[in-house]
Parts: sequence; C-alpha cells; structure tokens
Amino acid sequence: MTFRGRHLLGIEPLHPMEITTILDLADEYVGLSRSRSKHSDVLKGLTQINMFFENSTRTQASFELAGKRLGADVMSMQMQASSIKKGETLIDTALTLNAMHPDLLVVRHPHSGAVDLLAQKVNCAVLNAGDGRHEHPTQALLDALTIRRAKGRLHRLNIAICGDIAHSRVARSNILLLGKMENRIRLVGPPTLIPSGAADWGVEVYGDMKEGLSGCDVVMMLRLQKERMDGGFIPSEREYYHRFGLDAAKLAVAKEDAIVMHPGPMNRGVEIDGTIADDINRSVIQEQVEMGVAVRMAAMDLLAQNLRAEAA
Ligand code: NCD
Repeated sequence: MTFRGRHLLGIEPLHPMEITTILDLADEYVGLSRSRSKHSDVLKGLTQINMFFENSTRTQASFELAGKRLGADVMSMQMQASSIKKGETLIDTALTLNAMHPDLLVVRHPHSGAVDLLAQKVNCAVLNAGDGRHEHPTQALLDALTIRRAKGRLHRLNIAICGDIAHSRVARSNILLLGKMENRIRLVGPPTLIPSGAADWGVEVYGDMKEGLSGCDVVMMLRLQKERMDGGFIPSEREYYHRFGLDAAKLAVAKEDAIVMHPGPMNRGVEIDGTIADDINRSVIQEQVEMGVAVRMAAMDLLAQNLRAEAA
C-alpha cells in the first residue's frame, strides 16, 4: 500500500503514487455505491465525528454517507448550536471530542490552518473538509477522479480553472494535485480575483475567457465566494457574468469534447449559465457529487488501515 499518512490535511504533502492509490480504491467504491446493498464493514466498530464550523451541503452529506456505507458509527455535530457559541475555543472542543475516542474526525473551518492545528491535539485521524482559503483535499481528489474517468487519463491535459481563484481552497488544492500529475494549468479571471503570487505556481494566467479556454480539455468553474470578500472585487454580477460567466459562446473555443465542472454550490447566471450546467453532454457536475462519496470512502478506509497498522 502506498498511502502512509496519519491524516488527510491537504494535497501538498501527497506523493503522486498516494493520489493514485486513493483514486484507484475510490474507483472500486463507485462500484459498491452503484450496487444494490451499498454496504461494507471496513470501518465497523470505528467512530467518525463530523465537525462543520462552516455551512455545507454536499461535503457534509457525502462524508456522512461514506462513513455509513463503510459501517462506521457516524455522528455529525451541529456546530451552530454548540459550545463554540458559549465561547469555547476550537482546541477545547477538539479535546472534549477526543476524550470520546473517535477514530476519524472530519473538520471544516473558516480559518486557514485551523484543521492542521486541531490535528496536532487529537489522537485520531483528521480529514480536512475545507479550511478557509487553504485546502480542500477531498474536493481535489473527487475532481481528479471525475476527470480521470471522463478523459481516460489524469496527465497531459489542458485544464482551465476559472473565476474566484483568490478565495478558493478548491482552486488551491486542484492546482497542487493537477500540477503533481503533470497537467497544463491555466487560471482565468479578473486580476482582482487572481492571487498576486499565482505566476510562480507553475500555471499560466489569463484575464480573458476566450484566450484562457482555447483548446482546453477541462473547464473548471468556481463560485464567486461573496462571504469571503470584504471589498469591491467585481464591478457588478452582471458585468462579471458578461466577461467571466461560462456560456455557450465562451465554451465554444474549448475542445469539442471538453468537460465542464463546478464544485457547487453554483450561482447560476453569475459564474455559469444554467443551460450549460445542466447539459449532460458537457457538464460532469453530478458525476463530481457521485465521485465525492467514493473518494471519501477510499480516504477513510486508507486512514483506518494506517490507524490499525500503527496500533498493531
Ligand atoms: C466548495 C467549498 O466549500 O470550498 N464547495 C464544496 O465543498 N463543494 C466550494 C465553494 O463553496 O464554492
């Protein structure tokens, strides 16, 4: 086995072989999830706690389902109603939960680095479900699996990541993963939404959709993350859609078989035209959701195997 980590905190420390190991196992779990019984016992007897300090629909549901399909005892904390509201620190909350002997802790937090910090304080395996603008490793892995299944490979592809790069942990984790697998990455967006150091990341930067999308295999759209913006990053949503929203005319310059991706939740009519998002010949957005469950099953299975090896 080639995945040795104790936690899954980000894509940054992963070796390409580890990424391939997770994706190969996830492919098997797609099969299980499509079967009638959908059930395995690989996490039987283990306790999984989900702590989401930020709103989430698909990531939280997907982690919950992944744990249940593998037989874990799964508890999702309602963080909005938790002691955080009474002033408890993140670390105290973590230590309290740690005393209940969880095996897997799935954490989403609005601050970059908060999940890493928490991982240093607990005895169990920690999975980062998104920390601030930093990383969202399982999203990048599910995107990679979706691309690999649609394109038949995960290398030497032209991939355009478009929109609000500056506030996006999805973009960061994807740039790291797709770069490790030797793809050509283009970032497309207005200068206000492209981080200043981006040119040093081994990517190409474009300020024009038609230039950036020309001849590409994959078009990955990002949500305009209004909740992380504190000033005027765009003139107006209407203007943004006109220049950077994905519509049929802009997509026409990509390869004929280019796929369209979006991590969700989507702002239809802001970063993407609803008709394109729903076009089953181009959009793989629903496949991304399906791959999300499989990738999280694989990641938790591998971490649990490492926990057992450590205890033996
Ligand atoms: C993303 C996130 O939370 O970072 N969504 C997700 O996990 N599916 C992207 C976003 O919120 O725009």
